[in-house]
Amino acid sequence: MSEWPDNFDLRETPEIGTPVHTFITSEMEKLKVYGAQRPSGSKYIFHEHAERVAQNIKKTCLHMELGDLVAENMYWATLPHDIGKRKLPAEIWDKVEKPSDELKRQRRSHTDLGSKIVKEELGYLTHPFIDLTLDIMRNHHEQMNGAGYHGLTEEQLSKPVRLAAIVEAYDGWRIWRPHYGDRDISIPGVLTRMREEKGPDIFDMELFEAFAEMKMNAYNSGLDE
Ligand SMILES: [Fe+2]
Ligand SMILES: [Fe+2]
Repeated sequence: MSEWPDNFDLRETPEIGTPVHTFITSEMEKLKVYGAQRPSGSKYIFHEHAERVAQNIKKTCLHMELGDLVAENMYWATLPHDIGKRKLPAEIWDKVEKPSDELKRQRRSHTDLGSKIVKEELGYLTHPFIDLTLDIMRNHHEQMNGAGYHGLTEEQLSKPVRLAAIVEAYDGWRIWRPHYGDRDISIPGVLTRMREEKGPDIFDMELFEAFAEMKMNAYNSGLDE
């Protein structure tokens, strides 16, 4: 399992930092343009989701006292995790009917489509940041029990991937969708559901509790709602 990324600083190495930041900023813009093709009622706006997830990852790293450098590297590596979505037809995300297996397969391919974009655009660079970004991009829908998109199991999931999977799932469950009915989607409601209904089969619970503590601290002090 790879450790937290504290062995490089993109801010001090512009030969890597500049193309990486330019690429990610441009991809986020493309994701925004792509998202605008979806029906106006869509609440789960891709580029906004990506920004929230990256911010929550950063805050969790700081809360765990992993340091500013790890927090910064994790922020940038997580931001583009869903860019592959723009390679798929925009209408597939907002179907009201239960998704068919084929639709699910298509939606799930965003992890590999994103990796392909990174390899095409940044493949000329060899750097641990690229490896980290690809790891998170490919594997952010994996589960501890091996039931995720690629069926990777616990020992194959790095800490950055495990944290991304938690924060990513949390963000999805915080946005109400018709099949949620009257489910509690408040901060404490979603965290409780993740802990009690999902738990260690799905998530690394040590990382989950660090994330949950960070969210509840912000919630209890009125900084987050
Ligand atoms: Fe995703
Ligand atoms: Fe996501």
